[in-house]
Amino acid sequence: MSFATLLPRPVSVTPAPGSCPWPSTVDVRDAALPAEGYRLEISSDGIVLFRGDAAGEFYGRQTLRQLAGPDAFRAASLGGEASIPCGVVEDHPRFGWRGCLLDVARHFRTKAEVLRFVDLLAAHKLNVLNLHLTDDQGWRFEVPAFPRLTSVGGWRPSSMAGSGGAQDGRPHGGFYTGDDLREIVAYAAARSITVVPEIDIPGHARAALAAYPSLGTSPAYEVWTEWGISTSLLDPSESTLDFFRRVFDHLLDLFPSKVIALGGDETPGATDEHREFVRLLAEHLVARGRTPMGWDEVLDIPGLPPMVIGSWQNESAGVRAASAGHDVVMCPEQHVYLDHRQAEHPDEPIPVGWVHTLEDVYAYEPALTGPRMRGVQAQVWSEHLDDVRRVDYMAFPRLSAFAEVAWSSGDRDYAEFLPRLRDHHLPRLDALGVDYRPLDGPRPWQTRPGVPGRPR
Ligand code: ACM
Repeated sequence: MSFATLLPRPVSVTPAPGSCPWPSTVDVRDAALPAEGYRLEISSDGIVLFRGDAAGEFYGRQTLRQLAGPDAFRAASLGGEASIPCGVVEDHPRFGWRGCLLDVARHFRTKAEVLRFVDLLAAHKLNVLNLHLTDDQGWRFEVPAFPRLTSVGGWRPSSMAGSGGAQDGRPHGGFYTGDDLREIVAYAAARSITVVPEIDIPGHARAALAAYPSLGTSPAYEVWTEWGISTSLLDPSESTLDFFRRVFDHLLDLFPSKVIALGGDETPGATDEHREFVRLLAEHLVARGRTPMGWDEVLDIPGLPPMVIGSWQNESAGVRAASAGHDVVMCPEQHVYLDHRQAEHPDEPIPVGWVHTLEDVYAYEPALTGPRMRGVQAQVWSEHLDDVRRVDYMAFPRLSAFAEVAWSSGDRDYAEFLPRLRDHHLPRLDALGVDYRPLDGPRPWQTRPGVPGRPR
């Protein structure tokens, strides 16, 4: 095991002769280091971990785990002797926002699956889980004042199988209680991860409309059983506004995150009243001491308070947002949408979107620098990810490449990255039990013969 295998790549490494037996006691000391930074001094006498803050200590310990070899990623020790190389590692991240969106609305992920995903983010030194909790196809968090959001909005009788229009006829559903979400938040915080929740308004809200049709303009709605962009929008009335103020207030009780996401994307037919509705909810979050986050469509809304903009349609939206005084998280679908297919390979399961190969993701370099640039975020939308193995397959190892984009400074060379990933990191994913996509294409059971996609 050598330092060269580390992923994400540290700022600097100075190897020294010898090795240190593992597991070892770690002498943790405070030091003046950049945010989330750490310095490891490893000698045959022991390990000193200098930490700038609690996150720095966490990341130093992750690096030690990597140096100990793949078995350190198993859930229990296999026994036997291990050692780690001697030397000094200095490290801190390039971006303060190293995010991944997980869509638990289109396909629900059990609490245990979300906790496991948090572990996988932490192992990659990612620090934001943007949890997409509500959409046309499901409402996933319990709001005691409005029980129908989950009793009606939390399930659908059937789902579209791939992109061909056929239905699978299989009920799908699930939701988190307030305590489930508190548990997820605390579990993530212990791993230096902030959970940024998202309630999507005024579009992507058919599950809420099905639960409470008076939030809309039609007498009745159904939780959507199709994929795509629904034209059903919330009615931007005073009573709908009051309803969502109460829903967001409950969300704020559960999520301490400074940033709270309200969606705002894909609203065909939206009027000035819809735009004002989004602005008023953004102001509501500001009045509660939070910073609203919206997708880049909200940039068309006049008079917005300063927000965090998720620049997804293209990167020029993020550049525009920064010049309008907003902070920016770059998450462009041209580069970091991990629901998009990974290759032209004919066996790719339910191939949708553009081809984003592992190499493409590794090559992503955000177009924005400067003080408004908070960082980057990969997106795992789940229309076609109906179980956790499908999430593993689409997310990994591309999210491992993305982690290095998010953390490591300096030039990146895919030819240098690939052997590190193949020889050292994929064995860690194996030890973690991740059902990732092998570099040469899907295993037979990872294919989905007969389920059509929609390649772009
Ligand atoms: C999005 O992909 N609609 C943010």
